[in-house]
This record gives sequence, C-alpha cells and structure tokens, in this order.
Amino acid sequence: MSIHDDIERVLIDAATLQARIAELGAQIARDTGGEPVLLVGILKGAVLFLADLARAIDAPVELDFMAVSSYGNTMQSQGRVRILKDLDDAISGKHVVLVEDIIDTGLTMSYLLDLLRQRGPASLRVCALLDKQKPRARHITVDYIGFPIENAFVVGYGLDFAQRYRNLPYIGVLKPEVYQGRKNAGG
Ligand code: IMP
Repeated sequence: MSIHDDIERVLIDAATLQARIAELGAQIARDTGGEPVLLVGILKGAVLFLADLARAIDAPVELDFMAVSSYGNTMQSQGRVRILKDLDDAISGKHVVLVEDIIDTGLTMSYLLDLLRQRGPASLRVCALLDKQKPRARHITVDYIGFPIENAFVVGYGLDFAQRYRNLPYIGVLKPEVYQGRKNAGG
C-alpha cells in the first residue's frame, strides 16, 4: 500500500517542477534588480513550492506566511476569505511576492491582493505554481505562473485532498474512486 497507488496519472514530474522553479526564481531576482524580496507563502499548500522557490532566488529573501480559509459557499458568492494567521511583520516599502500553490477561481488571491495593497508595499506581485485554465470568478493578474493546467483536481507537492498527498514529490491527478470514496469524509 503506497500513497502513489491513489494517483491516476502524473501531470508534472519532480524534475520538471524543479526546472521551472529555477526559471521562476531567476526571473523574480531579475525583476527586483537584486533588491530584497519578501516571499509571502499561503499556508499550507504553498509551503513546498516556497521552500524550493526561495532557494532559486539569488537575492536577499525574507519569508512570512498567511493562513486563510474560505467561508464555503459564502466565499463563492462574495469572495470573502477568513484570515486564520496574518503576517508577522509590516510590509510597507517592501517588494512582496505572494506565493500560492494554485489559482482556481481567483477569489483567495483577489482578496489577499486587496488586503495587502492597503499596507503600502513597494511592489506586490503574485507567483502561482499552477494556474487552472477556466473562467475566473475574479480578474487578477498573476505575474509568475509555473504551469497552466487543465481544470482537474490535482494533489501533490503541497496540494492536498482532505489534508493528504501534500508530500507527493510530483503533481498528480487522483483516481476518482479515492475522491468519491472520501468526499463526504470532511477535510
Ligand atoms: P481559489 O480561491 O478558488 O483560487 O482557490 C485557491 C485555493 O483552493 C488553493 O490555494 C487550494 O488550496 C485550493 N485548490 C483549488 N484547486 C485545487 C486542486 O486542484 N487541488 C487542491 N487544492 C485546490
């Protein structure tokens, strides 16, 4: 019994992830002209990506984290997001890059951008590992995209289903029977 057995197919393998993250890191360092960058990771999904992205940036990097949770269907209609953990420090005057695992509807990122913009960063950009190719509920500009992907539910490399599969070293599509068997189990 292995966690890999629950995966129908691998969408992006580990080597492909690392090669693209090296490019993203170089691009971020280039765009900020070697100035310090504050990477803000959105817990928990972005943690693995952020850890690799930080090491791909050849410039001073600071790290901070936010944790958010949606209000379920309320979020769908109003774009409301609950802050579970705010940043530890002020971001005023800093070059901030919001690091997210995946942009789906865009509601989470739209809310966070509005919130952080009010805090006076020198610049505020978005770096998402995955970008689902589907109509967005909110228009947002994603400055750095790792991979556009099909509109499928994916897990691995930080992304979960019911808190599992975050530790898979690749991005994969779950077997439907796993999703159907556990979808009422919560999480
Ligand atoms: P959005 O607000 O709809 O853009 O949702 C973004 C968040 O939903 C991500 O940070 C993930 O936590 C979660 N999410 C969206 N799609 C997936 C997926 O395919 N797999 C796992 N989590 C996902």
